[in-house]
Amino acid sequence: MTPSNAPLQLENSTLLIDAGYVAGEWVRKSQSNKTFEVLNPSTGTVLATLPDMGRGEVKAAIDAAHTAQKDWAKKTGKERGAVLRTLYDLMVANVDDLAAILTAEMGKPLAEAKGEILYGASYVEWFAEEAKRISGDIIPGHQPDKRIMVLKQPVGVVASITPWNFPNAMMARKLAPALAVGCSFVAKPSELTPLSALAMALLGEQAGLPKGLFSLITTTASADVGKEFCANPKVRKLTFTGSTSVGKILMRQSADQVMKTSMELGGNAPFIVFNDADLDEAVEGAMISKYRNNGQTCVCANRLYVQSGVYDAFAEKLVAAVKAINVGDGFDDEVNAGPLINEGAVAKVKEHIADATSQGAKVAIGGRPHKRGGTFFEPTVLTGVTRDMKIASEETFGPVAPLFKFETVDDVIEQANDTEFGLASYFYANDLSQVWKVTEALEYGMVGVNTGLISTEVAPFGGIKQSGQGREGSKFGVEDYLEMKYVCLGGIPS
Ligand code: SIN
Repeated sequence: MTPSNAPLQLENSTLLIDAGYVAGEWVRKSQSNKTFEVLNPSTGTVLATLPDMGRGEVKAAIDAAHTAQKDWAKKTGKERGAVLRTLYDLMVANVDDLAAILTAEMGKPLAEAKGEILYGASYVEWFAEEAKRISGDIIPGHQPDKRIMVLKQPVGVVASITPWNFPNAMMARKLAPALAVGCSFVAKPSELTPLSALAMALLGEQAGLPKGLFSLITTTASADVGKEFCANPKVRKLTFTGSTSVGKILMRQSADQVMKTSMELGGNAPFIVFNDADLDEAVEGAMISKYRNNGQTCVCANRLYVQSGVYDAFAEKLVAAVKAINVGDGFDDEVNAGPLINEGAVAKVKEHIADATSQGAKVAIGGRPHKRGGTFFEPTVLTGVTRDMKIASEETFGPVAPLFKFETVDDVIEQANDTEFGLASYFYANDLSQVWKVTEALEYGMVGVNTGLISTEVAPFGGIKQSGQGREGSKFGVEDYLEMKYVCLGGIPS
C-alpha cells in the first residue's frame, strides 16, 4: 500500500511518464509551451506535469500515422498479432505498476484497478488472436464469366478519444482491434487520467510497434483536438467513448468528411427485479452493477425497478449490503469505493438526491458527502422514487441506487424503455417465458439476465438509440475498423 501523500512507488518507475508521445518521440515540451498537472483525486497530490498539446502536435501525429500505416497494413495478420500478443504479455507482467498508476490518477481501489488492467489486456489478447481471422467472402457470380470477391481492408488512420472512468480499458479496446486489422492510431486520453494510457504507449513501443503507428496526445484542449481529428482528411475513422452530448458534436463535425465513427455514449440502465427472482443474487448483481467504479460506468444500473411483492425485502437487503462498503483512498486495502472524479461529479449526485427527496423519495442509507471530505460521497439508496424525478431520466454517474416500485411486466417494460438511451439493461427473474419476453422487449444493446456484470472481451459491447453505434470486443469488434471492397472479376471463359 502507498500511503496517501507519499510519491507513487513503482517497481518499474519508467512507467510513470511526464511526456506526450508523438510520431514515435517522447515530447516533454508542447509547441505552445503550456503544461497541465495530473492530480490524485483522493489526495490532491500532483502526479505529473505534462505538455499541453494543440492542433500542431495532432497534425504531426496524424502525418506519422498515415505514413506508418502503409507498411503495417502489408504485414500478415500473424505478424501484427504477434506484436499485440507481446503487448498483452507486457501488460500482464506490469499489472501491479499499471494498477498503481491507475488508482493514483483515477481513485478506484487497487484491486479494481488491477481488474481493469487485466480487462484491458484481455482485449489486446483477443484481438491479437483475431488478427489472423480477417476474412472476406466469395459470392457466386451473377453472369457465367464473372466471379465476385469481397475484401476486408483496414480503414487507415484511426483517431480515438477516451474518458477518465476506465483510463486503460477504454483505450485498449479501441487500440487493439485497430492495430490488429492494420490501422494506425492517434489517441487522446482524458486530461484527468492520461498516465495509464502513456504507460501503455511505452509498453507498445517495447512490444515492437513501429515508430509513428501509435501516438498519444496529452492535452486539455479537447475541443480543438476533436476538431482536428474530424477535419484532417488523413483520418478515416473516429472512435469515441464519452457523453452523448459530446458524441453528437463529434458526429456533426465528422459528417463533413463522411468519416466512419464508433460512438460508445451515455446510458440510463434499468435494473429490474421481478417477484420470482432470487433476492440474494439480485442484491449481489445490483451491488456490482450499481457500485462498480463507484457508480461511474456507462453500464451502471441507474434505475432499479423492484416488483411490489419483493420491494421492501429487496430494499432491506440492499441497504445491508451497502452498509458494508468502505469508502476511502484506493491504496488502502480495506477500501472498496474511492472518491468521485471531481467536484462536478459530486454536484450532480447531490442534485439528483435533492431533487428526488424534494419530491418525496426517502434516503434509506447515505445521501451526503462522506466525512472524509474532498470528493468522497456516501454510497446511497433512495426508496419511493418515481418517474417524474430527474434521476429517472438522467445518468447520475455516482453511487446512488434509486428504487422504483412496479406492479406488472408490461408496466416495467414501458418504464424501462422510456429513455433516449439504450446501452445496458439488467433483470432478475426465473420464469423462462418471462425471461424471453422481457429480453426481447428491452430496447438496449446489452441485456444482463440474472447477472449484474456483462463486460467481457468475448462479447459485443455497445448501445442503440442515443447510446451510440458500433461494437467493441468479440468477433464483431474488428468490423468497425474495416472497409469492405467488392471486386468483380470478369472475362472468365466458361
Ligand atoms: C464504460 O463505462 O463505458 C465501460 C464499462 C465497461 O466496459 O464495463
